[in-house]
Amino acid sequence: MATERTLSIIKPDATKRNLTGKIVAKFEDAGLRVVASKRIHLSDKQAGAFYAEHAARPFYGELCAFMASEPVVVQVLEGEGAIAKNREVMGATDPAAADAGTIRKEFALSKGENSVHGSDSPESAAREIAFFFSGLELVG
Ligand code: TYD
Ligand code: MG
Repeated sequence: MATERTLSIIKPDATKRNLTGKIVAKFEDAGLRVVASKRIHLSDKQAGAFYAEHAARPFYGELCAFMASEPVVVQVLEGEGAIAKNREVMGATDPAAADAGTIRKEFALSKGENSVHGSDSPESAAREIAFFFSGLELVG
């Protein structure tokens, strides 16, 4: 499997509860390396642009408001098969359905306030990394 990069977001419910370090540790323990990282407070419009693929879904408005409610930590994670590995460590969207030991099982509050985002494909990863970072900010 090739070395990949993926976009991770530690969401407002997690930054608010001071869980950033515990979440990053889960990624690092799984062999993922943080090659870019910043804390930002998204506007509602920026959150909407990031999640544009979900614009027609009933939860879109709530999702954007949530993502803009508190600061987030956006990171690029690198490693062998990083996209799938990150999703594995995150767990299922709904914490009630997430496997034991996953971030969402341990930390998420609900399906909406679920602590982390991770790119779901190489195409999404490329788009989402470029949304937040310039090439100069990626330090492998
Ligand atoms: P999605 O891309 O389906 O999930 P994932 O984050 O696991 O890739 O949905 C994006 C986010 O939208 C999800 O993390 C939380 C929110 N969401 C809801 O609030 N309700 C829902 O029913 C779904 C499917 C998602
Ligand atoms: Mg998704």
